Amino acid sequence: MVTLALGMATGGHAADENGAGVKQGRADYLTYCASCHGANGEGDGPVSGSLKNRPPNLTYLKQQEMSGEFPQKRVMEIVQGNPDYAMNYRTHGPADMPVWGRELTKDSSDRESIAKARIRNLVEYLESIQK
Ligand code: HEC
Repeated sequence: MVTLALGMATGGHAADENGAGVKQGRADYLTYCASCHGANGEGDGPVSGSLKNRPPNLTYLKQQEMSGEFPQKRVMEIVQGNPDYAMNYRTHGPADMPVWGRELTKDSSDRESIAKARIRNLVEYLESIQK
C-alpha cells in the first residue's frame, strides 16, 4: 500500500490535456463498464442484478483508501487484468470473464500503446467521478 502511494506520487498524469482524456475515458467507460458499474459508476448498471458478485460503486475508490489518494495504479491493474488480482476480482480476471484490458486492446486494432492510453484515460475518468 505504501509503496503504491509512492509510485503514484512520482508517476503523475499523462502529458495530454486532461479534458480530452477524461472525455475519451468516459466514452470507453460507457461502452465497457457501465452495464455493470452503472452510467454514473454507482454500481447499479442493468446487468448488476444478475451477477453473482455485485459490482461495487466506483465513486468511493478514493474514500476507501486509508491514504486518501485515488488508487490509480491498482485500478489500472484491475482493468488490465493483473493475474495477482484474479482471485479477488474474479469478475474481471480470466476465471469467469474476459479481461477488459484485452477487449480494449483488440478494439484498438491490437495496438498496445493505444490500448494503454485508453486505459489511462479510463482511469482518469474514474478519478474524476470520485466523491
Ligand atoms: C460483468 C460486469 C462488470 C463489468 C463489465 C466491469 N466490471 Fe468492474 N467489477 C465487477 C465486479 C462484480 C467487481 C467486484 C470484484 C469482482 O467480482 O471481480 C468489480 C470490481 C471493479 C473494481 C474494483 C473496485 C474496488 O472497490 O476495489 C474496479 C476499479 C472496476 N471493477 C472497474 C471496472 C472498469 C473500469 C470496467 C470497464 C473497463 C469494469 N469494471 C467492467 C463487474 C464488472
